[in-house]
Amino acid sequence: MKKYDSHSSIDGKKLHPESLMMSYGYRPDWSEGAIKCPIFQTSTFVFETAEEGKAFFEIAYGLREKGPKEEIGLIYSRLNNPDLEILEDRLTLWDDAESSAVFNSGMAAISTVLLQYLKPGDIIFHSEPIYGGTDYFINHVLPTLNIKPVGFRAGRSSKEIEEALISCGNPEKLAMIFIETPSNPTNDLIDISACKKMAEKYSTADRQVLVVVDNTFLGPLWQHPLKHGADLVLYSATKFIGGHSDLIAGVCLGSKELMEPVRIMRTFLGNMADAWTGWLLMRSLETLKLRMTSQMKNARYLANFLADHPKVERVCYLGQLTEDDPQFPVYKKQCLSPGSMVSFDIAGEEAHAFKFLNSLKLIKLAVSLGGTESLVEHPATMTHSDIEPKAQQRMGITEKLIRISVGVENPEDLVMDIEQALKKV
Ligand SMILES: Cc1ncc(COP(=O)(O)O)c(C=O)c1O
Repeated sequence: MKKYDSHSSIDGKKLHPESLMMSYGYRPDWSEGAIKCPIFQTSTFVFETAEEGKAFFEIAYGLREKGPKEEIGLIYSRLNNPDLEILEDRLTLWDDAESSAVFNSGMAAISTVLLQYLKPGDIIFHSEPIYGGTDYFINHVLPTLNIKPVGFRAGRSSKEIEEALISCGNPEKLAMIFIETPSNPTNDLIDISACKKMAEKYSTADRQVLVVVDNTFLGPLWQHPLKHGADLVLYSATKFIGGHSDLIAGVCLGSKELMEPVRIMRTFLGNMADAWTGWLLMRSLETLKLRMTSQMKNARYLANFLADHPKVERVCYLGQLTEDDPQFPVYKKQCLSPGSMVSFDIAGEEAHAFKFLNSLKLIKLAVSLGGTESLVEHPATMTHSDIEPKAQQRMGITEKLIRISVGVENPEDLVMDIEQALKKV
């Protein structure tokens, strides 16, 4: 072994993802010994010979099978780029996935998967509530392609969920179960393995019904949907993976077999992330565990404070679930921590929520989540304003609901800010 070789195990023992985020997949001897992977800011790559160029294209375009030791060579940055390839290798470690693809936004990852795996006449069965952009794509864009959305409320029992599918009239058209768990912004849970069972029940010899999970809220640290039967996992990497509110990106992970068509679709839609974003994401991954752990501890502290406050009516936080809650067994089964997204209903109505939001000093009023700074927003009029008011009510998105993405600040400072803002209400 040369000092340049990156080790993923020692004496046969696999290293943890956080130990590998600084080195995995990168060889310093490719780049003058640089300890960090440089930014490969290039659109195209030089072939040594015409024969080599031909061979690279044959593999990239699936014109022939790869030889036993053959790797796809670098061709053009819409198809592949070292920053993206190394980043994608590192991302697979957290979710224990065979393959991953990085996109230029979470919505790009989501829409590419939906366009790849849904065809006219299909049904997509999706959880509610769901991120507003995904909700719009599923309920307003997909129907123009004759793909029918059928929604079900997160937090319901598996029996109730299947009844919602059957009541649509033609469940045999089911092609995909798309879930966001925990749901944005209410933190309701959906049992991933129960969805897998249902998908298997409605799969046929010709077609596998896919379970696709948007795992943005718990990030790659606190929930691993592939282990519970999901076929594909999606992230807005803008959130915890990027973690500094300074980039937009998305990720899809799964088996090689399911990811290959997603990569091909990405090549032709041209919505891959660029090298600079890939480099920033690699930098972010080095501190992913530190950040997410600190954010989770802060969120626990803050949620406890909110739960005891007389001006707070309801706290939606996984760390507050009690053993008698029907969602508790699902939490225990599939979540490794409550994460750092806290929502709560303030006593009163929209005006009271706005007074609170306008009174905060340290915590910034902005959408997005998962960054190092705490952010607060009003889902009903901001991230989820596309959803009509009646549907919002059904989903538990009230006019007094406030969502906080908890950052890495000092927890006492965060509570002090919230306390002073609640006093003004
Ligand atoms: C749960 C969830 N999924 C997907 C997205 C979309 O990601 P992006 O903004 O990176 O396109 C968001 C954005 O807020 C989100 O919260």
